[in-house]
Amino acid sequence: MTSSPRVYSRIVGTGSALPERLVDNATLAAELGARGVETSDDWIVARTGIRQRYIASPEESSSVLGTRAARMAIETAGLAPGDIDLIIVATSTPDFVFPSTACLVQRALGIVGGAAFDVQAVCSGFVYGLTVADAMIRTGSARHALVIGAETFSRILDWNDRGTCVLFGDGAGAVVLSASDRPGILAAKLHADGRHEAILRTAGNVSHGSITGHPFLTMDGQAVFKLAVGVLDEVARETVAAAGLTVADIDWLVPHQANVRILQATGRRLGLPAEKVIVTVDRHANTSAASVPLALDVAMRDGRIREGHRVMLQGVGGGFTWGAVLVQI
Ligand code: UT7
Repeated sequence: MTSSPRVYSRIVGTGSALPERLVDNATLAAELGARGVETSDDWIVARTGIRQRYIASPEESSSVLGTRAARMAIETAGLAPGDIDLIIVATSTPDFVFPSTACLVQRALGIVGGAAFDVQAVCSGFVYGLTVADAMIRTGSARHALVIGAETFSRILDWNDRGTCVLFGDGAGAVVLSASDRPGILAAKLHADGRHEAILRTAGNVSHGSITGHPFLTMDGQAVFKLAVGVLDEVARETVAAAGLTVADIDWLVPHQANVRILQATGRRLGLPAEKVIVTVDRHANTSAASVPLALDVAMRDGRIREGHRVMLQGVGGGFTWGAVLVQI
């Protein structure tokens, strides 16, 4: 009796998209100052490492940015849109309550059939989506999956709250994950702890034709900071162990890009040199679910991450959610 060959999933293409409008810290500080909100380039750089962010126009919705990133990922993979049989969009800023952003991307790409749905795990959304796609490929439910992180957080920011509005930006990143006989995703671990739901939330809703609650992002920054540093270290170790490897086997760390101090602390706790940590928060700010695929695309295109490298992707954010995926490129 012959056993059927084992199926793995591999990342075969990446892509990204940023809005046209770039806003550096000095410009943002001047705009906020004009409305009585005091901040400065110095404060933002010292506390977060952020130097600039991209802000979407009304036309640049999450589905529009996600579609652009997806096209690039499909092209890089050498595939055609018609090859895609699964679309997962990780977003907390969907175009609509429904239909899902994934269905809007599917239509824009001219794809019919196959599954398409959104995943809502805030800044951990991309690693959640990648984990689901990996499972669906390994069980034979899909062969070529698009996993997209697409966000327009500028639309849910309270521009009078200097504690949050300077931190976020808009953008999208995408990967194509395909079935393969060679391992790509080596291990994935996801977690959540809803007891901390109040420290990072947008507690608004649409009800009876009106907006109810508080439709702006609120955050207890220090509480999020402390939790993030602890769980990112833990989940990285848990994920390499699940793959039968050690931290020394990681070539690159691509953590959620929220604050350069969190990225540096995670690298230090894991004993990884700073050069192995991919940092894009300086140029993109925090793009929530888009941050990990955006950073991955940057480092693949500039040649740092190459075939054969082992890359630890990590998400952490509202929910409270966190997770990691160890992938061999
Ligand atoms: O994507 C989800 C994950 N999110 C995160 O990981 C965010 C995690 N948290 C953080 O990155 C940091 O906590 C922040 C960057 C949000 C804040 O940094 P912090 O060092 O914790 O500052 P803080 O909140 O303790 O504020 C320090 C001071 C305060 O003034 P006083 O009370 O000391 O006089 C704030 O009012 O800085 C003030 N401040 C600002 N000043 C200038 C807060 N925001 C600003 C600002 N510009 N934009």
